[in-house]
Amino acid sequence: MVLPPSQRLWVGMLVVIAVMMEFPSALQKCIFDDVQAQARVVRAAPVHPDEAELISRAGQQLGHPGWRASSLPGLSERERRGLSEMAPPTPDSLQPIRIRSWTPRESNSLSEAEKERLHAAVEEAVRMVSSLLSVNRVRGPLLLSRDINKYCKFLWKNSSTVNYNRCGRANNNYRSETCLDVTIPDDHLAGCDIYTEADSPRRTELRPEGAGVPDTDFLLYLHVQATDKCRAEPNVLAYAVHCQTDARGRPVAGVVVICRDRLTAATYSHRATLQTVIHELFHTLGFSKHLFHTWTDCSSTSPAGAGCSPRGKVTHHDGSGQMRIYTPSVISALQKHLASPDPELGGPLENLDVPQGRVSSHWESRVLQGSIMAAVLGDSTTVRIDPATLAALQDTGWYAVNLSRAQSLVWGDGEGAMFGSLSTCQDKSSSFFCTGSGFGCHYLHLHKGECQTDQYLEGCRLYKPLMNGSECWKEENGRKSAEEDWSGEIFGFDSRCFFSSLTSQNHSEFLWFNSSVGGRCYRHRCAGPNRYQIQVSGSEWVDCPAGGTTQIKGYQGLVSCPDRRLCLHADVTPPSDGVSTFPATITRPSTDVTVATALGIAAAVCLLAAVIMSYRKCCPCRVRIHSAPDHCSQV
Ligand SMILES: *[C@@H]1O[C@H](CO)[C@@H](O)[C@H](O)[C@H]1NC(C)=O
Ligand SMILES: *[C@@H]1O[C@H](CO)[C@@H](O)[C@H](O)[C@H]1NC(C)=O
Ligand SMILES: *[C@@H]1O[C@H](CO)[C@@H](O)[C@H](O)[C@H]1NC(C)=O
Ligand SMILES: [Zn+2]
Repeated sequence: MVLPPSQRLWVGMLVVIAVMMEFPSALQKCIFDDVQAQARVVRAAPVHPDEAELISRAGQQLGHPGWRASSLPGLSERERRGLSEMAPPTPDSLQPIRIRSWTPRESNSLSEAEKERLHAAVEEAVRMVSSLLSVNRVRGPLLLSRDINKYCKFLWKNSSTVNYNRCGRANNNYRSETCLDVTIPDDHLAGCDIYTEADSPRRTELRPEGAGVPDTDFLLYLHVQATDKCRAEPNVLAYAVHCQTDARGRPVAGVVVICRDRLTAATYSHRATLQTVIHELFHTLGFSKHLFHTWTDCSSTSPAGAGCSPRGKVTHHDGSGQMRIYTPSVISALQKHLASPDPELGGPLENLDVPQGRVSSHWESRVLQGSIMAAVLGDSTTVRIDPATLAALQDTGWYAVNLSRAQSLVWGDGEGAMFGSLSTCQDKSSSFFCTGSGFGCHYLHLHKGECQTDQYLEGCRLYKPLMNGSECWKEENGRKSAEEDWSGEIFGFDSRCFFSSLTSQNHSEFLWFNSSVGGRCYRHRCAGPNRYQIQVSGSEWVDCPAGGTTQIKGYQGLVSCPDRRLCLHADVTPPSDGVSTFPATITRPSTDVTVATALGIAAAVCLLAAVIMSYRKCCPCRVRIHSAPDHCSQV
């Protein structure tokens, strides 16, 4: 008696690291690869000895409209279904994926308010995912398979008998199928039979065929619980597993567990929960190191008419030891994003906490910061469903992905193949990274930020949104005390963050003391791609030349005008609902600018001097304004 090896499943978790002394931002960290569950993945597989040949024949015939799995003799209903799923996708058969969520009764009873929050987030996530991914739709109701390793005690192993690999004797202890800790209803499951004789087609029914779930391509078991896993780590939000794949390897069922505290929190954020659910769904749908090796190539360039072929191993080290996904769409997404034809540019995977030679189920945070599939999800206004992630889902072979619906990933745009490497992030050549610990602007310029690192950045630093009050687009963040009017800030929907050393001439007492370079919020309006004007409190609209600086009447100092960050990406906007999106607020930002002042004086001198000296001597300050304080204080 030989039972096929079962696959293990890993559980993903999203946690908010609430208080970290060194990294005061609230991080949502996914530890998908940290926590292992003993769950099994059931793969629907035809069990007939001629399986391989049938599949290849079916693959060829399926291209033919007249072909029906039912025309193949000698197959059970279940086996026919398995073969139908083997059909390579054709443009006609590809339709938006239908994800049906199902909540088990054992989920903790939720209050009406919690139910509303949950359903709003899950419904929107499902809607978004099905607008992105199309599948070869399941014909008829979706029926999950039972795990033959569980219900069967004995398999026929003589390959010349009729019942080869079928079950000869039932396991009397068999009760039910589970997906993580969710018990799958019998109604969702295919039946199973026992063949008591090796060579006879006679069978007895162990479990009847369920009705299945109609109009469904992926069954999402949604579990809201205060599980041990939720409690094991502080502030776990959610975790997920996939637990069934169809005969082509596409996941057809999975569990997303949402920790109940997540829904009750006073700081509840719909957008953050939505992104959490999408992130977990993407893991269960294929963006998982446990599925990378099962991705298939269904491109028309694969051998004519042969349908899909396995891609084999898709993750490899590049020359520098960075683990990457090398599949066609992912490679071209990276090459396009970084504007480099470098053939080594696969999709970089997170290396932190990953043993040598192993892979992660997240993108490398230094290169694809802000991606929905990075290990850390930051402030929800900065998280993007980016081209690299959609390309990866496309390369699974199970989906047709509308790549044009990707959200622009501003981070690293056009920065070249070396962008985000440990060797370059600290050399001040990129405006995306910063050095030191000053204040400035988050790279999307929606927030003021502080130059910080986190464990995934491995020493690289960037301006992260402050915990509270850093959104330029929030009117209520405007500080109205007269003492602080010197900076000319305006907060509101069309305000963005600018590196600036402006000081109002009406407040000359602040002139030298306060005119450090920092992130300030001013209004902006677009005049064309990468062309815009800005307005400072009490001033006219003035042109702000991208990549240059401008002065404002009535103010001392300069405003830097970011290049290729504003008026270029139509989808980088404040959330239109305007609701608070931070998952948690722990610390207040230091409202006193004085922390940075000492260094800032040098920077201000440098900036002013730059104007006078035709931008020559101090040009590094102008070009690399992010690192100005450090650099100039050495001048
Ligand atoms: C396998 O089955 C065939 C046909 O029933 C039989 O002739 C053969 O002896 C069996 N082989 C073994 C190893 O049991
Ligand atoms: C892809 O998305 C774009 C933008 O939403 C839409 O205009 C286009 O019709 C979609 N293409 C397909 C093939 O669905
Ligand atoms: C954020 O700061 C404002 C004013 O500085 C304060 O009124 C508000 O309570 C703070 N928000 C939180 C959640 O702490
Ligand atoms: Zn994850």
